[in-house]
Amino acid sequence: MPAIVLLGAQWGDEGKGKATDVLGASVDYVVKYNGGNNAGHTVVIGDEKYALHLLPSGILTPGVVPVIGNGVVIDLGVLFEELDGLDARGVDTSRLLVSGSAHLIAPYHTVIDKVAERFLGKARLGTTGRGIGPTYADKISRVGVRVQDVFDEKILRQKVEGALEQKNHLLVKVYNRRAITVDEVVDEFLGHVERLRPMVTDTALVLSRALDEGRTVLLEGGQATQLDVDHGTYPFVTSSNPTAGGACTGSGIPPTRIDRVVAVVKAYTTRVGSGPFPTELLDDEGERLRRDGAEFGTTTGRPRRCGWYDAVVARYAARINGVTDFVLTKLDVLGGRERIPVCVAYDVDGTRHDEMPMTQTDFHHARPVYEELPGWDEDISGVRSLEDLPKTAQEYIQALEDMSAAPISAVGVGPGRDQTIEIRSLLA
Ligand code: IMP
Repeated sequence: MPAIVLLGAQWGDEGKGKATDVLGASVDYVVKYNGGNNAGHTVVIGDEKYALHLLPSGILTPGVVPVIGNGVVIDLGVLFEELDGLDARGVDTSRLLVSGSAHLIAPYHTVIDKVAERFLGKARLGTTGRGIGPTYADKISRVGVRVQDVFDEKILRQKVEGALEQKNHLLVKVYNRRAITVDEVVDEFLGHVERLRPMVTDTALVLSRALDEGRTVLLEGGQATQLDVDHGTYPFVTSSNPTAGGACTGSGIPPTRIDRVVAVVKAYTTRVGSGPFPTELLDDEGERLRRDGAEFGTTTGRPRRCGWYDAVVARYAARINGVTDFVLTKLDVLGGRERIPVCVAYDVDGTRHDEMPMTQTDFHHARPVYEELPGWDEDISGVRSLEDLPKTAQEYIQALEDMSAAPISAVGVGPGRDQTIEIRSLLA
């Protein structure tokens, strides 16, 4: 004990590294339980900036065992490229464990992701093009290839053959692409076998034993609540479950062993890709948030859509995930404004909604109902305690806590590891 879930409350890119920093040396295992290399964590340590896509951010903390759980989809080429990059910078990556039940992203998944998006035209989802959706689709259709399959060449070949039979019809007849051969896929997977072998284990068993021994396990979600395939703004979502339930299925740790659910929430809102976003700002104010908050995707470099804080979204995250603590990030970005609007409810065709509307149609029609809070002029990036913040910044935090249905336990005031105000421990 304890097992702590760490996830995003909005549409991703909330800065989960911040919460990992607060937990620091007390964590023994960091588990990625969903998604793949569509994620993007930027971790700043001293003068060094690390952009991780597939690996859990805990890989940078000495002594921590990073784990890629069964709920993740893995592009082996990306895995080893990321490991090589870290090795070259002197980061010890030797403790990484990979679940034998995680699914593999094959070259045909990436091709299908990209061409399917192109074919959707205006209706495209704005995926990261990394093959995530097609890989999860194969998992659910029971034609996926798992990590363990690469250790049995005969089985691997059979599975790839089975998958390619359908895929090549699709690629050639529908998308007008060249067929992909079984050999090129199998050879690519087999090329990674020897390096992969020592990392692969029954990670659910390892984690269960770790909890029995009193170790601290951090379950780190990729993407975020509103991108969850069940609970997000479907169909503009990713294909996995970033929410707290996904932490259990994606790691093999049962719900009864989870002690805390920490949700990271930005002091404003951002979104990458398509889909409804009620507080989006399409004016200079949106541009200012993007510039001051450096809101450009870690994975794709795309400019992020920016808007004000949405308390309806935060309350929803608190409810769906059973949030015990919020970590509020990027408060410093909001400095230099006389007043800061915060969305407290939606107006849907004349009716007030205090909760997320039930239907996609209503959510597309949702107009934010704003409350304006007083802003501050001071640079708060050097502040390390709540009392030292300008009074109006303290009031902003308190107001957000009151309207978001869970306590704010830490506040980020800059990208650096130490630029955090801790209000209460995330461990006790
Ligand atoms: P996919 O995960 O590549 O299938 O993309 C589906 C949707 O999720 C798109 O709108 C992406 O922009 C979004 N998405 C995926 N990963 C992230 C992330 O780490 N942060 C923010 N948005 C993401």
